[in-house]
Amino acid sequence: MAKPGDIIVGLDIGTTKTLAVVGEVGADGVDITGVGEARSKGLRKGVVVNIESTVTSIKEAVERAGNMAGVEIATVYAGIAGSHVRGVNSHGIVSIANHEVSSDDVERVLDQARRISMPLDRQVIHVLPQDYIVDQQDGVREPVGMSGVRLEARVHLVTAAVASVQNVTKCAERCGLHVAELVLEPLASAEAVLTEDEKEIGVAMVDIGGGTTDVVVYVDGALVHTAVIPLGGMNLTNDIATGLRTPVGEAERIKLRHGCALQSMVDPGDSIEVPGVGGRGARTIARQYLASIAEPRMDELFRLVAKIIHDSGYAELLGAGVVLAGGATLLEGTPELAEQVLGMPIRRGIPMGVGGMVEMVKSPAYATAVGLLKYGATRPAKAEKAAAVGRQLLQPQVPAAVQAAAMDPSNPKLGTKFWEWLREVF
Ligand SMILES: Nc1ncnc2c1ncn2[C@@H]1O[C@H](COP(=O)(O)OP(=O)(O)OP(=O)(O)O)[C@@H](O)[C@H]1O
Ligand SMILES: [Mg+2]
Repeated sequence: MAKPGDIIVGLDIGTTKTLAVVGEVGADGVDITGVGEARSKGLRKGVVVNIESTVTSIKEAVERAGNMAGVEIATVYAGIAGSHVRGVNSHGIVSIANHEVSSDDVERVLDQARRISMPLDRQVIHVLPQDYIVDQQDGVREPVGMSGVRLEARVHLVTAAVASVQNVTKCAERCGLHVAELVLEPLASAEAVLTEDEKEIGVAMVDIGGGTTDVVVYVDGALVHTAVIPLGGMNLTNDIATGLRTPVGEAERIKLRHGCALQSMVDPGDSIEVPGVGGRGARTIARQYLASIAEPRMDELFRLVAKIIHDSGYAELLGAGVVLAGGATLLEGTPELAEQVLGMPIRRGIPMGVGGMVEMVKSPAYATAVGLLKYGATRPAKAEKAAAVGRQLLQPQVPAAVQAAAMDPSNPKLGTKFWEWLREVF
């Protein structure tokens, strides 16, 4: 575990933005001391496709965060995502030396569980224990010290394409950064927005970013399912650009300012102005027309999420419903639409469980970066020198605008609509 005074840095290299968040470990948690953001240009659907552009974004974000925190950043916990990522449940068995489980036995059984047959171009990035079985006793969370002869472990393995892993590491290293660990982005987001109770009761976290939608499912406190859908907020922007016959940059601005995921939530009298292109004059359109473009796209996305949850086999165990993260969930009406499609309680998740400059990270778009920081703070000592200190007592430089999160209280009722819909579709 990190010690008070240690500096940890989370680096989220997203499809639309790169974010670095610096935190200092205190007596009861991590305090955010710096946040730096830069536009990402070198990624497609969560995956690095242009090293030079990605390096530029990382340098900018890290420099801004370092300046604000007054530290020189040397080591980061970096996120990895994309549809090359796969999650699979696995299992290991070993005999217990000396009839009492030691930490060596736990290491051996996890090592065995990670040995699955895999193509050479893939590698394991996480071995996440779900529970242990000592002889016949299952559901054991902490087996060390228990008596028995046979130790089994159930784990969730996350694997990724070697080339994608190497490209993220390469970009960070070109910026002079050491990557302490690469962490699956939705795992980090979940770390930031889910409560331990929700993970125990059963919950799905859906992170809708610019290029991808990531889904992770927790049951009985453990990660049991991971999936990636290669669609995100940029697809909606493209639909709006086509539907309104306007450039993508303008469509993005219109989406952010006037977008709504549900037509029924928009006042029929509301209108918006669409600037003309190529010398044509501006047009006025009904805001409901904009929502009529957004609703089918978001509806389609949540139907894919519903299918993933259904196919995972854990749908009936999600008593805590679904928590939304990622910038695209800031679209007005998104939780309401998600509830209609999924028929489960939905809440927007904003990063929690950190102190310091929390106002700067109060948005679902910051979930991954804050989660990476929180993840880093719980890791063993080897990675603790996350940032070389070199404090210079710089004046904090607060960046212009940080999106404030619209945090809605979750809807407590677990609807039946989800099941009706599944029956209809499958
Ligand atoms: N207020 C808003 N309304 C609608 N969409 C929004 C809003 N704010 C941000 N977005 C959308 O959120 C998306 C960016 O989200 P986020 O920052 O989580 O993505 P990312 O981490 O860069 O991408 P990814 O996780 O897919 O690699 C963009 O498509 C942007 O248009
Ligand atoms: Mg993201």
